[in-house]
Amino acid sequence: MEAQQHRLTTALVLLLAAVLFSVGAQSSEAHGAASLHPVILLPGYSCGQLDARLTDEYKPPTPGCGVPKQGRRWFRLWENYTALQEDPALLPCYEDQLRLVYDRAAGDYRNLPGVETRVVSFGTTRSFFFDDPAIKNTCMERLVEALEGVGYTEGANLFGAPYDFRYAPAAPGVASRAFADFSSSLRLLVEHASVTNGNRPVILVTHSFGGLYATEFLNRSPLPWRRRYVKHLVMLCLGVGGSPVIMQVLASSTSSPSPSTTLLGSVLAFGNRSFASTLSLLPSPKVYGDTPLVITRARNYSAKDMTEFLAAVGFTDDEVQRYRTRALPVTLNFRGPLVPMTSINGVGVPTIDRLIYWDGNFSAKPQVVNSDGDGIISLDTVLALQTFVGDDPDQRYFKSVLIPNMTHTGMISDHSALNRVVKEILEANQATSS
Ligand SMILES: *[C@@H]1O[C@H](CO)[C@@H](O)[C@H](O)[C@H]1NC(C)=O
Ligand SMILES: *[C@@H]1O[C@H](CO)[C@@H](O)[C@H](O)[C@H]1NC(C)=O
Ligand SMILES: *[C@@H]1O[C@H](CO)[C@@H](O)[C@H](O)[C@H]1NC(C)=O
Ligand SMILES: *[C@@H]1O[C@H](CO)[C@@H](O)[C@H](O)[C@H]1NC(C)=O
Ligand SMILES: *[C@@H]1O[C@H](CO)[C@@H](O)[C@H](O)[C@H]1NC(C)=O
Repeated sequence: MEAQQHRLTTALVLLLAAVLFSVGAQSSEAHGAASLHPVILLPGYSCGQLDARLTDEYKPPTPGCGVPKQGRRWFRLWENYTALQEDPALLPCYEDQLRLVYDRAAGDYRNLPGVETRVVSFGTTRSFFFDDPAIKNTCMERLVEALEGVGYTEGANLFGAPYDFRYAPAAPGVASRAFADFSSSLRLLVEHASVTNGNRPVILVTHSFGGLYATEFLNRSPLPWRRRYVKHLVMLCLGVGGSPVIMQVLASSTSSPSPSTTLLGSVLAFGNRSFASTLSLLPSPKVYGDTPLVITRARNYSAKDMTEFLAAVGFTDDEVQRYRTRALPVTLNFRGPLVPMTSINGVGVPTIDRLIYWDGNFSAKPQVVNSDGDGIISLDTVLALQTFVGDDPDQRYFKSVLIPNMTHTGMISDHSALNRVVKEILEANQATSS
């Protein structure tokens, strides 16, 4: 009897708490999901898994990669670690099938003829879980667990927005069907998440390249829509203005990957400069100006000389043109999202800042000059973000958090970093102004 009474009282207290705290925002940990704003996660580069289906139009590089082997059904193309462990002969097939081509008529990138692809499990975080040890900690799997630990529930108030990382947002007015499709899907997901959570606006949380997708998505959404549906953007591990690391990736991608390269490394090399996304994170002239980034005896290349650099490492005129018309304007026109924003970055880790190919041989291993950052994203680009967004009078709220001695992937796998990230997400939940 007494126990029953106690349970009843507890239930009543909980009910009261739920009612109270859904009105006045409070610390969510103690008060459960009722007061939480829905969260949508956008993971980093290579984290969107892809299914593919081949048709007779596909011309396989070797007969073993042809349609009969796969059949006409959907199979996991990126990434299918188990199959690759069991049958390494699949690797060249998968590498070939992941390539993009540029369709002149459409003025856009697309899959090879005869290859159809689709992003796996859009709307959920299910595809963030990889069995490949090389990328296990790079795709927000631990962040999903940490958010579940403070009351978030997959499918109820926790969602995922994986995207096809081979593509990138192109300049406004330039065709980019993949990004346009992603944007429509994300718009519906944001609205769904809000409507099914008491009309609370959502918190977008991004890691690395996901931040570019999110900021471009927001910038191209009507301002009233943003203010109605987006409570906050929490952007992890991304500044503004790209990274010299990408120049190294592109310089060396003519040489075949060594057998010891990871699957990702080999896909990037074999993506064979065909991915639209690799051009999107090249250092921006707006941030790097004319600082020499690639140094050779004969001449230096700064961000302002990017087209010359691309030509020097073997890009065709058409490819260079695509950099100028599709990728560069996006970087130059960067603007803050004009929704409340928290930027969290690691510092104190050596990060590539300059590459020295003294003999001008871009296939050779460069000598590297490091600066401060998270190992991938340099502090300079984070400071540039603070300037561009922090000083924008229309940006109502901007907070920058720097975590000492934290790497790019440590941010979403290291226990202490995750605690901080979750704390900032909970803080964004409680903010009253939006
Ligand atoms: C992985 O690839 C193999 C071989 O192509 C295929 O049989 C399997 O179904 C794929 N896995 C998934 C999850 O699609
Ligand atoms: C990569 O691209 C070059 C030039 O576009 C081409 O000659 C080469 O065959 C391609 N390699 C692969 C593996 O697709
Ligand atoms: C390239 O840049 C370095 C470092 O700033 C400078 O010392 C050097 O003189 C430059 N070389 C040329 C060829 O301009
Ligand atoms: C450039 O470097 C690569 C890799 O070290 C080497 O194999 C090649 O011979 C070099 N090319 C020249 C022209 O020195
Ligand atoms: C930075 O992290 C590394 C690896 O976790 C650790 O060994 C080192 O002591 C740390 N350095 C500082 C200054 O905290």
